[in-house]
Amino acid sequence: MSTGGRPRVLLMHPILDPGPSILAEAAEVVAYPPDRPLDEAGIRQAAEGCVGIVSQLMDPIRETVLSTPGLKCVSNVAVGFDNIDVAAATAHKVMVTNTPGVLDDTTADFAFTLLMSAARRIVEADSFTRSGQFRGWAIDMMLGHDIFGATLGIVGAGRIGRGVAHRAKGFNMRILYYDPQPLPREAEEQMGATRVDLGRLLAESDFVSIHVPLTKETYHLISSAAFNMMKPTAILINTSRGPVVDEAALVAALTAKKLAGAGLDVYEREPAVHPGLLPMPSVILAPHIASATVRTRSEMSAMAARNMATAVRGGRPPNLVNPEVKK
Ligand code: DGY
Repeated sequence: MSTGGRPRVLLMHPILDPGPSILAEAAEVVAYPPDRPLDEAGIRQAAEGCVGIVSQLMDPIRETVLSTPGLKCVSNVAVGFDNIDVAAATAHKVMVTNTPGVLDDTTADFAFTLLMSAARRIVEADSFTRSGQFRGWAIDMMLGHDIFGATLGIVGAGRIGRGVAHRAKGFNMRILYYDPQPLPREAEEQMGATRVDLGRLLAESDFVSIHVPLTKETYHLISSAAFNMMKPTAILINTSRGPVVDEAALVAALTAKKLAGAGLDVYEREPAVHPGLLPMPSVILAPHIASATVRTRSEMSAMAARNMATAVRGGRPPNLVNPEVKK
């Protein structure tokens, strides 16, 4: 568990300042196992003798890892924690923490950036201009889709979904939301959105933006049945988790012109991207960077480090996902 009396914490990947110094005050930091990304067996091996693991969303933290003797805490540097088997962690009395709150506005900004860029074909237009294809104004050149006054469907009305709605109000958008959990009336009014079922949201929206965590219930929530309900002029935005969308069905739907385009930051098998998406100019493909600003990534790093430092010192980390472990 420790050398020279100091507890050891495995830092799977670099994090930003001030994260490393917060960790180093609390523990001996074992930094970056070689040959990453590691599979479960590799992470288990690297974690031997450690009381904590600071993980990231590409690290599979499941039973093999969670049963490491002496392991007390896994601190994920992300708000999402679908890479961690929380039930197994709880069974092994391992605390799991995440980084909620600090990335909401940054992620909502990025969802809106994708929405606007896809609607107005900005990536395609930039390549067109750079490659010398702009040879003069034309009435039918690069026609896109209006944003102002359009209907936005938000799937998942958590903090990020509500943040996207907040931005959409400035564009006079009609906002629908789907969430199995209705918002309290006041929050709904503040969001300026109407709760509808998923079918109606898909059928009426010009833009559909996804903001749900990946769970058994949300896996392939958006599949071919969903695409069949969407407007052929609609655009799908996904900044949540890739497997919420059936990527093969998305490619088929775009090919059949059942929707007009997509703005994606996440993929079903990251970092792989479905090869069918690559040649499609109507799709914007970002490399999972919705939370990637200097301020936000630093705050995520600090928060994850503080969660771990608190756990190492025997306290209750502020962002505990499985509170039943630490009553
Ligand atoms: C998260 O935090 O879950 C994002 O996907 C990465 O910022």
